Amino acid sequence: MRPKYHVTTFGCQMNEHDSEIMGGMLESLGYEAEDDLNQSDIIIVNTCCVRESAENKIRGYIGNLKRLKQINPRLIIGIGGCMVQQPGAGEKLLKKAGHVDIVFGTHNIHRLPQLITEVRHGGHVLEIDNEEQDIQDDLPVKRQGHIKAQISIMQGCNNFCTYCIVPYVRGRERSRHPENIKKEFIALGNEGFKEVMLLGQNVNSYGLDFSTSYDFADLLKELDATKKIKRIRYMTSHPRDFNQKLIDTIAGCSSVCEHFHLPIQSGSNHILQLMNRGYTRETYLSLVRAIKDQFPDCSITTDLIIGFPGETDEDFQDTLALLHEAEFDVAYTFLYSTRSGTPAAKMPGQIPQEIKRERLQQLMDVQNSISLRINQSLVGKIEEVLVEGKSKTSDRTLTGRTRTNKIVNFPGEINLAGELIRIKITAAKTWHLEGEKIES
Ligand code: SAH
Ligand code: SF4
Ligand code: F3S
Repeated sequence: MRPKYHVTTFGCQMNEHDSEIMGGMLESLGYEAEDDLNQSDIIIVNTCCVRESAENKIRGYIGNLKRLKQINPRLIIGIGGCMVQQPGAGEKLLKKAGHVDIVFGTHNIHRLPQLITEVRHGGHVLEIDNEEQDIQDDLPVKRQGHIKAQISIMQGCNNFCTYCIVPYVRGRERSRHPENIKKEFIALGNEGFKEVMLLGQNVNSYGLDFSTSYDFADLLKELDATKKIKRIRYMTSHPRDFNQKLIDTIAGCSSVCEHFHLPIQSGSNHILQLMNRGYTRETYLSLVRAIKDQFPDCSITTDLIIGFPGETDEDFQDTLALLHEAEFDVAYTFLYSTRSGTPAAKMPGQIPQEIKRERLQQLMDVQNSISLRINQSLVGKIEEVLVEGKSKTSDRTLTGRTRTNKIVNFPGEINLAGELIRIKITAAKTWHLEGEKIES
């Protein structure tokens, strides 16, 4: 019998993809994927530290693993990812959680097989490099699913938004060579994948570290031209670097979806400046206008941080007003969380939790009504939906997404999974649409 592994992932899509690489490496060591933690011989937790709430949840999760180690002393527990990459965090974790065997940083993922061998000889293993490595192109990947896949096009972030820990735990920007990305993309097409998400903390700065002028728009164009994958998505694009060349390129690429995720973070120029975002509400809104002019049926989504240090009621009103002007399909809202080591942690005017919560509630009320109104305008329309599988609601209901990334639930049989079909939208909710298949 092959030994079993389980990888638990917290955090963003970059982390999800890193976990697919960890899975790939474990499979090449002979391990087999296992859903049940109790049956696993090795458990890896891939951590996130973007907000304190994420860290608290993960600490609880790691604490609970102690029980499994008591039942099975041969169990290997490995903790990797962003949380342990913070200065001193790995050492502290090993001291506090004696049941953890391996701690490895974000720059040491490729070393997991060697670390497992080391830990088998006894003791704990801690390996956290602070220097970013060259991108490793040849690591095996165990994909989750057969319909949608992720490709990492770059690592790290150079933006240093003042609230954000990511640049400190992921290192500087490094772009992957386009030829290697293209090879992976074509292989996914040949394997039957229908959708590919190109991943980077700021995909718009893809290629800035090359000696040539090759950029993200060039990459999209080249991948689209292969005609291997029906839908291309990308995440995340920084509003500051989203230029007309990119808009024009996307317009010419039939597989690139009409969904734009453009995190604004705040609607107040004063706060945007304190955040070091590099754009104003005016330049942001003119970008939104340029995108809507080119793609009238597109969707635009955003991220917002509520309660950044110094956020006055007036700043918050600016954010509310911006929601009405931009008309986002979805806004992902986060309470500002102090991250030690970031400039914002030391800024004056930290906002009390109750005020943050009140503002969040107001913001969600406004956004939910906008989301619902936009979704209602789609009732009666026909949308192309990529069927992903059964919906959570019932066995005879399927779920999929439109090109604009909206969830659509509809009655149908599971053999449609992976198909692109035409759906007539029959009802709208705040967070999803309902529809029925039309015969084409
Ligand atoms: N590189 C991406 C994603 C970064 S993390 C980007 O620039 O958009 C995803 C989201 O988490 C961010 O967009 C931001 O809204 C939120 N976030 C990051 N740091 C945060 C913090 N300290 N407190 C609250 N939200 C935060
Ligand atoms: Fe964080 Fe800003 Fe980089 Fe996004 S662009 S990862 S918010 S520093
Ligand atoms: Fe979290 Fe690291 Fe992603 S901090 S959001 S898992 S890059």
